[in-house]
Amino acid sequence: MNYNKKTVKDIDVAGKKVLLRCDFNVPQDKKGSGAITDDKRIRAALPTIQYLLDQGAAVIACSHLGKPVATFESYKKKQLEKGKDEASITEEAWQKSLKALRMEPVAARLSELLGKPVILADDVVGPDAQAKAAALKPGEIMLLQNTRFEKGETKNDPKTAKALADLAGADGVYVSDAFGAVHRAHASTAGVADYLPAVSGFLIQKELDFIGGALANPKRPLVAILGGSKVSTKIGVINNLLEIADTVIIGGGMAYTFAAAQGGQIGDSLLEADWEDYARDMVKKAADKGVKLLLPVDTVIADAFSPDANTQVVANGEIPAGWQGLDIGPKTIELYCQAVADAGTVIWNGPMGVFEFEKFAVGTKAMAEALSKTNAITIIGGGDSAAAVQQLGYADKMSHISTGGGASLEFMEGKELPGVACLLDK
Ligand code: 3PG
Repeated sequence: MNYNKKTVKDIDVAGKKVLLRCDFNVPQDKKGSGAITDDKRIRAALPTIQYLLDQGAAVIACSHLGKPVATFESYKKKQLEKGKDEASITEEAWQKSLKALRMEPVAARLSELLGKPVILADDVVGPDAQAKAAALKPGEIMLLQNTRFEKGETKNDPKTAKALADLAGADGVYVSDAFGAVHRAHASTAGVADYLPAVSGFLIQKELDFIGGALANPKRPLVAILGGSKVSTKIGVINNLLEIADTVIIGGGMAYTFAAAQGGQIGDSLLEADWEDYARDMVKKAADKGVKLLLPVDTVIADAFSPDANTQVVANGEIPAGWQGLDIGPKTIELYCQAVADAGTVIWNGPMGVFEFEKFAVGTKAMAEALSKTNAITIIGGGDSAAAVQQLGYADKMSHISTGGGASLEFMEGKELPGVACLLDK
């Protein structure tokens, strides 16, 4: 994939209407107040928004929020699949689910952060959005309703893409800064680029520079730290990074499937038996390619999956029945920290243990600390790894923390990202 894409700096936006796709899919208070509990993604879009406004563009921002179901029929089908009783599946319940995912809280927060009004449309491409977009003046910003309220959005329906593009008018421009959603081929993330000149914002540019740079032309040695609970969610990443990295470090729950695959005893630890062959293949691939594949040598085990469980440290592959591994052990920490100390670039995706419980956050914390001390370029994948680094207080010590969970994972898998591929090449 070509990462060298035109940016907002390569196109004249003065006096034009810019359809700006952001990823404002922010976490909200679970109790239904709509309060945004982490506004990082909104803040991450501010440099691009401010630049466009300063250049005299009229900004029509849009984003998805959560996973609303755009038609009652699909809503009903999904609820039935979840085992809900048919009588309880009403239009009213569907409407309520949509109301919870309206963009009002996002518009309010964006307005606070920008220090200027954000005009909110009542629909996505309907009459209200059309009227407000037509009246929008240079230096003003509006926000469309949740793009997934349109049934054509997730299907990448050309009609929806064209209707979005039409909001920006004949000389409109499409700017994507929605890195978190670039792995989705949806109308607002990819389809719309068929109808408007399409460039990236500063956030996508930064993500492409860091992650793309590390994959295509890393400062070596390149060390990849891969953790998280399941091998099955990291198959593509391990496979791809074994092609590129000098050292691949495995930690987290998935290390126990590797241990089992090598004949170790893993007690009650997480095991994906279907992936043992894959784990053996990866060990062989590393050997064939001359990549150093580091697996845990010891592990912290617990007698229950609980923050207060009793613990002990044992050699990896020697976990007794009734015990489960929840973190890497001290010898492993030493080994892994040594591996990152002299790295040129480190890519980290997935925690080393159950970092949500203090007792089992030691391995993840040690790695974060080791990364904070290296001179290497340090890149943290989105999702759990980003949350871990933030929670443990090391966020400002990293070169780059990705704003994309699924998107950064697919990027590291070497997959083409539709929301990037659709942008104009430099
Ligand atoms: C994310 O949160 O990873 C992005 O916003 C994409 O959301 P999605 O998984 O609902 O497409």
